[in-house]
Amino acid sequence: MDKDLISNDGANLDFAQLLAALAATATTRRRLLQAGLGSAALSFFGLPAMAAPTGRPGIGFTAISISSDDIVRVPDGYSVQLLYAWGDPISDGPAFRADAGNSASEQAEQAGMHHDGMHFFPWVEDGKPSSTHGLLCINHEYTDDGLLHPDGMADWSHEKTRKSQNAHGVSVIEVELKESGSEFRWQLVRPSRYARRISARTPTRIAGPAAGAPGMRTGDDRRGNVVFGTLANCAMGHTPWGTYLSCEENFDGYFNGLVEPTADQKRYGIRANGAGFRWHEYDRRFDVASEANEANRFGWVVEIDPWKPAQAPVKRTALGRFKHECATLTLASDGRVVVYMSDDQAFEYLYKFVSSDRFAAGDAASGGHLLDVGTLYVARFDADGKGRWIALQHGQNGLDEASGFADQADILIRTRQAADLLGATKMDRPEWLAVDPQSGEVYCTLTNNRKRVSADAANPRAGNAFGHIIRWREEQADAAAAAFDWDVFVLCGDPENPDPAKRGNIKGDAFASPDGLWFDPAGRLWIQTDVSGSVANRGDYQRLGNNQMLVADVASGEIRRFLTGPKACEITGISATPDARSLFINVQHPGEAAGGRSSPSAPLAGSGWPANQFAGVTGGRPRSATLVIRRADGGVVGT
Ligand code: FEO
Ligand code: CA
Ligand code: CA
Repeated sequence: MDKDLISNDGANLDFAQLLAALAATATTRRRLLQAGLGSAALSFFGLPAMAAPTGRPGIGFTAISISSDDIVRVPDGYSVQLLYAWGDPISDGPAFRADAGNSASEQAEQAGMHHDGMHFFPWVEDGKPSSTHGLLCINHEYTDDGLLHPDGMADWSHEKTRKSQNAHGVSVIEVELKESGSEFRWQLVRPSRYARRISARTPTRIAGPAAGAPGMRTGDDRRGNVVFGTLANCAMGHTPWGTYLSCEENFDGYFNGLVEPTADQKRYGIRANGAGFRWHEYDRRFDVASEANEANRFGWVVEIDPWKPAQAPVKRTALGRFKHECATLTLASDGRVVVYMSDDQAFEYLYKFVSSDRFAAGDAASGGHLLDVGTLYVARFDADGKGRWIALQHGQNGLDEASGFADQADILIRTRQAADLLGATKMDRPEWLAVDPQSGEVYCTLTNNRKRVSADAANPRAGNAFGHIIRWREEQADAAAAAFDWDVFVLCGDPENPDPAKRGNIKGDAFASPDGLWFDPAGRLWIQTDVSGSVANRGDYQRLGNNQMLVADVASGEIRRFLTGPKACEITGISATPDARSLFINVQHPGEAAGGRSSPSAPLAGSGWPANQFAGVTGGRPRSATLVIRRADGGVVGT
């Protein structure tokens, strides 16, 4: 999708992880226990409950070269298994048809398109999290309707609209590592009572301060507390109470806006014809002229309990409305829940939410409602390496009726406009966030922003074509703090570029447009890239190859290339089993055409993946897919 659009032209400025860092000292452990955080919470943060971190793990594989080939490559000694591709049945439902001839109803029981953020929830057996059995939650961010239907978008219809909506959302699948001949392979459990597709049509509850607000009410939902579905599900988060957070990013593209949009609609990019999905022709809620408020019901963080397949997803409005990329949870020193979030568009902001109440492991009352009451903040990065979190709270910081905000619900529905008033720093497209399990520092990918004219300290390159990774340390190492210190971890680029400004300062293998970001339980930082297929392997990106995944040692700064993807794909989504011996990643939109829509008469023009790499896989179309990467000797991935 074209993320060079600018909506902000105003003028202004695995748990696994933090707790592991906190748990490093006996004092902290005592504090956590006093705050009601038992060993379950500690192991949620990725460490065995009584273990303390023991230095940086290092990187233990031989780097691979860049590649422009149409396959996935990994280092020697590793295997790649195809697990779950677009159109695969989630349970014992219909098989994928190579000509994309599955009906809308069949698509509702199959993997959606364009896999993105993902998390593995281990089965718990005898109180121990399993590394061979669990549930995978996978986002399906958007569709290429040129591939989704046998004849693409010709003769657009109600059925095609429904199929497109059913190919969006989230998959919940049950997966198991099983002996298969002479080897072990991951398989979907079919049938599974947990298998579930959430789509752009699934009834979803609206919770938090904006639920029921006038701006959330529509002709179909006069109470403003139920919406059909979720879409544009990009990256994610997960909670210590075992739920998945799916983030609604480019929701604006699904609406046919007014020819002359209101200022509020403009601020969120709601425009005539949107991104060309044409849903509004058969579903009036996506036509702004027919239903002005439906667009207010998207752009939220959605909580899904994978363990309760009958429970409706919930939009948590206290976390604000914007183009949510990612929602990374951690806990403050006193047990309050902290959610770091990014708004992925050029010149948008970074946010965090701090809950009012504390998380208490094992307390049934300690769950999703913690995300309904708390304070939302936006970040300001100052030139002296300090930063501030500024509260987006009605009655504070000039956010009141006089400045145009009726109440807190109004601030949350128009989060961007409220943040504009507070001097927040305009960033170079914030994507994923990850918390270092050893230091508690937070890392954030800023993928690129070619439109930047004036550099600032936190976004130090004009015309930022390659992106960078920023990091910060909260005051007193407390995630709930109001202040932080920050620096730039790495400027991406090509060291051989003739223009010194485009060389970056990577210690190791070159890459651009960092997007996915994840700390493994031992503290290695995994970086995934998303250079647009329309520019990859050309011009400034000529020497950087297809999109890739790298591993950073944040202590030494070394970055080493681990994986390269097929043509015109994005590498995104990353999670692992608790033993870190099986790594799940996603390949999104292999072969994507410029503009995001392929020609149905030449569906394989951009890529033949994955059928060209894996035996027994139905081809006919390039297919986004989940892969499992393991070491041939069964060891920990990345060591
Ligand atoms: Fe969906 Fe910002 O990537
Ligand atoms: Ca992304
Ligand atoms: Ca991206």
